[in-house]
Amino acid sequence: MKPTYIVLIGAPGAGKGTQAAMLVEALGIPHISTGDMLREAVARGTSLGLLAKRYMDKGELVPDEVIVDMVMERLAQPDCQKGAILDGFPRTVYQAEAFEEALAREGKAIAVVPYIKVSMEKLLERLSGRWICRRCQAVYHMVYKPPKDDKKCDLCGGELYQREDDKPGTARHRLEVYFQQTMPLLNYYREKGLLREVDGEKSIPEVHQELMAVIQEVTPGAESSEG
Ligand code: AP5
Repeated sequence: MKPTYIVLIGAPGAGKGTQAAMLVEALGIPHISTGDMLREAVARGTSLGLLAKRYMDKGELVPDEVIVDMVMERLAQPDCQKGAILDGFPRTVYQAEAFEEALAREGKAIAVVPYIKVSMEKLLERLSGRWICRRCQAVYHMVYKPPKDDKKCDLCGGELYQREDDKPGTARHRLEVYFQQTMPLLNYYREKGLLREVDGEKSIPEVHQELMAVIQEVTPGAESSEG
Protein backbone atom coordinates (compact mmCIF):
# COMPACT_ATOMS: atom_id res chain seq x y z
CA MET A 1 0.00 0.00 0.00
CA LYS A 2 1.20 3.52 -0.80
CA PRO A 3 2.13 5.75 2.16
CA THR A 4 -0.39 8.37 3.32
CA TYR A 5 1.12 11.85 3.51
CA ILE A 6 -1.09 14.41 5.24
CA VAL A 7 0.08 18.03 5.05
CA LEU A 8 -1.36 20.28 7.78
CA ILE A 9 -1.45 23.94 6.80
CA GLY A 10 -2.30 26.80 9.13
CA ALA A 11 -0.85 29.97 10.59
CA PRO A 12 1.43 29.97 13.64
CA GLY A 13 -0.86 29.09 16.56
CA ALA A 14 -3.61 27.55 14.39
CA GLY A 15 -3.28 24.24 16.26
CA LYS A 16 -1.22 22.15 13.80
CA GLY A 17 1.02 20.64 16.49
CA THR A 18 -1.90 20.00 18.85
CA GLN A 19 -3.92 18.27 16.15
CA ALA A 20 -0.94 16.37 14.72
CA ALA A 21 -0.31 14.78 18.13
CA MET A 22 -3.93 13.56 18.17
CA LEU A 23 -3.74 12.28 14.60
CA VAL A 24 -0.67 10.21 15.48
CA GLU A 25 -2.79 8.40 18.06
CA ALA A 26 -5.70 8.00 15.66
CA LEU A 27 -3.86 7.01 12.47
CA GLY A 28 -0.70 5.36 13.73
CA ILE A 29 1.67 7.34 11.49
CA PRO A 30 4.39 9.70 12.79
CA HIS A 31 4.21 13.46 13.23
CA ILE A 32 6.93 15.35 11.41
CA SER A 33 7.24 18.94 12.57
CA THR A 34 9.98 20.94 10.87
CA GLY A 35 9.75 23.47 13.73
CA ASP A 36 10.43 20.73 16.33
CA MET A 37 13.26 19.28 14.22
CA LEU A 38 14.89 22.70 13.90
CA ARG A 39 14.47 23.49 17.62
CA GLU A 40 16.14 20.16 18.42
CA ALA A 41 19.04 21.01 16.08
CA VAL A 42 19.36 24.41 17.81
CA ALA A 43 19.37 22.75 21.25
CA ARG A 44 22.07 20.29 20.13
CA GLY A 45 24.14 23.08 18.62
CA THR A 46 24.60 21.32 15.25
CA SER A 47 25.64 23.30 12.16
CA LEU A 48 22.03 23.17 10.95
CA GLY A 49 20.90 24.43 14.37
CA LEU A 50 23.34 27.34 14.32
CA LEU A 51 22.15 28.35 10.86
CA ALA A 52 18.44 27.90 11.72
CA LYS A 53 18.67 29.91 14.95
CA ARG A 54 19.62 33.06 13.03
CA TYR A 55 16.30 32.94 11.17
CA MET A 56 14.03 31.48 13.87
CA ASP A 57 14.93 34.10 16.48
CA LYS A 58 13.72 36.79 14.08
CA GLY A 59 10.57 34.89 13.06
CA GLU A 60 11.91 34.45 9.51
CA LEU A 61 11.81 31.22 7.49
CA VAL A 62 14.92 29.01 7.33
CA PRO A 63 16.27 28.67 3.73
CA ASP A 64 14.24 26.28 1.57
CA GLU A 65 17.06 23.97 0.40
CA VAL A 66 18.02 23.05 3.97
CA ILE A 67 14.44 22.22 4.88
CA VAL A 68 13.58 20.03 1.91
CA ASP A 69 16.65 17.81 2.41
CA MET A 70 15.96 17.56 6.13
CA VAL A 71 12.36 16.39 5.54
CA MET A 72 13.22 13.91 2.78
CA GLU A 73 15.87 12.34 5.04
CA ARG A 74 13.32 12.03 7.83
CA LEU A 75 10.70 10.47 5.51
CA ALA A 76 13.21 7.81 4.48
CA GLN A 77 13.24 6.44 8.06
CA PRO A 78 11.48 3.09 8.59
CA ASP A 79 8.76 4.54 10.86
CA CYS A 80 7.47 6.61 7.90
CA GLN A 81 6.82 3.59 5.69
CA LYS A 82 3.03 3.95 6.06
CA GLY A 83 3.14 7.73 5.72
CA ALA A 84 3.42 10.81 7.93
CA ILE A 85 1.61 13.87 9.23
CA LEU A 86 3.56 16.91 8.09
CA ASP A 87 3.30 20.02 10.26
CA GLY A 88 4.98 23.25 9.17
CA PHE A 89 6.16 21.84 5.84
CA PRO A 90 5.86 22.76 3.00
CA ARG A 91 5.81 26.42 3.90
CA THR A 92 6.63 28.07 0.56
CA VAL A 93 5.66 27.28 -3.01
CA TYR A 94 9.32 26.36 -3.65
CA GLN A 95 9.19 23.77 -0.85
CA ALA A 96 5.85 22.45 -2.13
CA GLU A 97 7.19 21.97 -5.66
CA ALA A 98 10.43 20.38 -4.46
CA PHE A 99 8.50 18.04 -2.15
CA GLU A 100 6.07 17.02 -4.88
CA GLU A 101 8.93 16.28 -7.28
CA ALA A 102 10.83 14.28 -4.68
CA LEU A 103 7.74 12.20 -3.88
CA ALA A 104 6.91 11.72 -7.57
CA ARG A 105 10.42 10.31 -8.19
CA GLU A 106 9.46 7.56 -5.72
CA GLY A 107 5.97 7.10 -7.22
CA LYS A 108 4.33 8.74 -4.18
CA ALA A 109 2.01 11.72 -3.63
CA ILE A 110 0.31 13.82 -0.95
CA ALA A 111 -3.11 12.44 0.06
CA VAL A 112 -4.74 15.58 1.44
CA VAL A 113 -3.92 19.08 2.70
CA PRO A 114 -6.19 20.10 5.59
CA TYR A 115 -6.11 23.87 6.14
CA ILE A 116 -6.81 24.82 9.78
CA LYS A 117 -8.34 28.29 9.52
CA VAL A 118 -8.18 30.67 12.52
CA SER A 119 -8.60 34.46 12.79
CA MET A 120 -5.63 36.75 13.51
CA GLU A 121 -7.03 37.80 16.88
CA LYS A 122 -7.31 34.19 18.07
CA LEU A 123 -3.86 33.31 16.74
CA LEU A 124 -2.18 35.97 18.88
CA GLU A 125 -4.17 34.87 21.93
CA ARG A 126 -3.13 31.26 21.40
CA LEU A 127 0.56 32.04 20.89
CA SER A 128 0.76 34.26 23.97
CA GLY A 129 -0.85 31.57 26.20
CA ARG A 130 1.09 28.60 24.87
CA TRP A 131 3.43 26.57 27.10
CA ILE A 132 5.47 23.58 25.87
CA CYS A 133 7.10 20.66 27.68
CA ARG A 134 10.87 20.93 27.43
CA ARG A 135 11.20 17.13 27.60
CA CYS A 136 8.40 15.63 25.43
CA GLN A 137 7.21 18.74 23.48
CA ALA A 138 3.55 18.34 24.62
CA VAL A 139 1.66 21.58 23.98
CA TYR A 140 -0.54 23.37 26.58
CA HIS A 141 -2.49 26.60 26.74
CA MET A 142 -2.99 28.36 30.05
CA VAL A 143 -6.69 28.98 29.23
CA TYR A 144 -7.74 26.37 26.64
CA LYS A 145 -5.62 23.39 27.66
CA PRO A 146 -4.10 24.05 31.08
CA PRO A 147 -1.73 21.52 32.67
CA LYS A 148 -3.01 19.92 35.90
CA ASP A 149 0.05 21.07 37.83
CA ASP A 150 1.20 24.63 37.10
CA LYS A 151 4.36 24.61 34.91
CA LYS A 152 4.74 20.80 34.78
CA CYS A 153 3.85 18.43 31.93
CA ASP A 154 0.88 16.11 32.63
CA LEU A 155 2.46 13.39 30.50
CA CYS A 156 6.08 13.25 31.67
CA GLY A 157 6.46 15.78 34.51
CA GLY A 158 8.90 17.83 32.40
CA GLU A 159 9.32 21.58 32.87
CA LEU A 160 7.03 23.80 30.76
CA TYR A 161 8.47 26.81 28.93
CA GLN A 162 7.35 29.55 26.53
CA ARG A 163 8.96 29.69 23.10
CA GLU A 164 11.23 32.69 22.43
CA ASP A 165 9.45 33.29 19.13
CA ASP A 166 6.05 33.48 20.88
CA LYS A 167 6.99 36.86 22.38
CA PRO A 168 4.54 39.45 20.99
CA GLY A 169 6.90 41.22 18.52
CA THR A 170 8.30 38.01 17.01
CA ALA A 171 4.89 36.29 16.99
CA ARG A 172 3.40 39.18 15.00
CA HIS A 173 6.29 39.03 12.53
CA ARG A 174 5.83 35.25 12.13
CA LEU A 175 2.20 35.90 11.26
CA GLU A 176 3.25 38.50 8.64
CA VAL A 177 5.74 36.02 7.17
CA TYR A 178 2.99 33.39 7.09
CA PHE A 179 0.60 35.69 5.22
CA GLN A 180 3.30 36.65 2.68
CA GLN A 181 5.08 33.35 2.11
CA THR A 182 2.76 30.51 3.13
CA MET A 183 -0.71 31.80 2.18
CA PRO A 184 0.11 31.37 -1.57
CA LEU A 185 0.27 27.64 -0.83
CA LEU A 186 -3.48 27.61 -0.23
CA ASN A 187 -4.15 28.37 -3.89
CA TYR A 188 -1.40 26.03 -4.98
CA TYR A 189 -3.05 23.07 -3.21
CA ARG A 190 -6.61 24.25 -3.98
CA GLU A 191 -5.80 24.13 -7.70
CA LYS A 192 -4.52 20.60 -7.27
CA GLY A 193 -7.78 19.60 -5.57
CA LEU A 194 -5.97 18.64 -2.35
CA LEU A 195 -7.03 21.45 0.00
CA ARG A 196 -9.78 20.89 2.61
CA GLU A 197 -10.73 23.74 4.91
CA VAL A 198 -11.34 23.00 8.61
CA ASP A 199 -12.74 25.48 11.16
CA GLY A 200 -9.83 25.85 13.59
CA GLU A 201 -11.78 28.12 15.97
CA LYS A 202 -13.80 25.24 17.38
CA SER A 203 -12.67 23.32 20.47
CA ILE A 204 -9.66 21.01 20.21
CA PRO A 205 -11.78 17.78 20.09
CA GLU A 206 -14.17 19.30 17.52
CA VAL A 207 -11.31 20.30 15.23
CA HIS A 208 -9.95 16.76 15.57
CA GLN A 209 -13.28 15.30 14.47
CA GLU A 210 -13.44 17.60 11.43
CA LEU A 211 -9.89 16.66 10.51
CA MET A 212 -10.60 12.96 10.79
CA ALA A 213 -13.65 13.42 8.56
CA VAL A 214 -11.67 15.10 5.75
CA ILE A 215 -8.82 12.59 6.04
CA GLN A 216 -11.12 9.58 5.86
CA GLU A 217 -13.07 11.12 2.97
CA VAL A 218 -10.00 11.22 0.73
CA THR A 219 -8.03 8.28 2.14
CA PRO A 220 -10.53 5.54 2.91
CA GLY A 221 -7.54 3.25 3.47
CA ALA A 222 -6.39 5.43 6.41
CA GLU A 223 -8.53 3.75 9.04
CA SER A 224 -8.56 5.17 12.52
CA SER A 225 -6.58 3.10 14.99
CA GLU A 226 -8.68 4.63 17.81
CA GLY A 227 -10.82 2.39 20.00
P1 AP5 B 1 6.90 26.02 13.80
O1 AP5 B 1 7.38 25.37 15.02
O2 AP5 B 1 6.41 25.18 12.67
O3 AP5 B 1 5.84 27.08 14.23
P2 AP5 B 1 4.50 27.61 13.53
O4 AP5 B 1 4.11 27.16 12.20
O5 AP5 B 1 4.70 29.05 13.69
O6 AP5 B 1 3.42 26.90 14.32
P3 AP5 B 1 3.24 26.90 15.81
O7 AP5 B 1 4.03 25.77 16.42
O8 AP5 B 1 3.51 28.26 16.38
O9 AP5 B 1 1.66 26.68 15.94
P4 AP5 B 1 0.74 25.41 15.79
O10 AP5 B 1 -0.15 25.62 14.62
O11 AP5 B 1 1.52 24.14 15.85
O12 AP5 B 1 -0.15 25.61 17.11
P5 AP5 B 1 -0.23 24.74 18.45
O13 AP5 B 1 -0.83 23.42 18.19
O14 AP5 B 1 1.06 24.81 19.20
O15 AP5 B 1 8.06 26.95 13.17
C1 AP5 B 1 8.89 27.76 13.98
C2 AP5 B 1 9.97 28.40 13.13
O16 AP5 B 1 10.79 27.37 12.53
C3 AP5 B 1 9.50 29.23 11.92
O17 AP5 B 1 9.21 30.55 12.30
C4 AP5 B 1 10.71 29.12 10.98
O18 AP5 B 1 11.74 29.98 11.36
C5 AP5 B 1 11.18 27.69 11.19
N1 AP5 B 1 10.55 26.74 10.24
C6 AP5 B 1 9.74 25.70 10.58
N2 AP5 B 1 9.36 25.03 9.47
C7 AP5 B 1 9.93 25.67 8.41
C8 AP5 B 1 9.88 25.46 7.01
N3 AP5 B 1 9.18 24.46 6.46
N4 AP5 B 1 10.57 26.33 6.22
C9 AP5 B 1 11.30 27.33 6.76
N5 AP5 B 1 11.38 27.59 8.07
C10 AP5 B 1 10.70 26.76 8.90
O19 AP5 B 1 -1.36 25.62 19.22
C11 AP5 B 1 -1.08 26.95 19.66
C12 AP5 B 1 -1.72 27.15 21.05
O20 AP5 B 1 -3.15 27.14 20.91
C13 AP5 B 1 -1.39 26.06 22.07
O21 AP5 B 1 -1.23 26.65 23.32
C14 AP5 B 1 -2.64 25.13 22.04
O22 AP5 B 1 -2.86 24.50 23.31
C15 AP5 B 1 -3.76 26.10 21.70
N6 AP5 B 1 -4.81 25.51 20.86
C16 AP5 B 1 -4.65 24.69 19.79
N7 AP5 B 1 -5.84 24.40 19.22
C17 AP5 B 1 -6.78 25.07 19.96
C18 AP5 B 1 -8.21 25.17 19.86
N8 AP5 B 1 -8.91 24.54 18.90
N9 AP5 B 1 -8.86 25.96 20.76
C19 AP5 B 1 -8.15 26.62 21.74
N10 AP5 B 1 -6.79 26.55 21.87
C20 AP5 B 1 -6.12 25.78 21.00
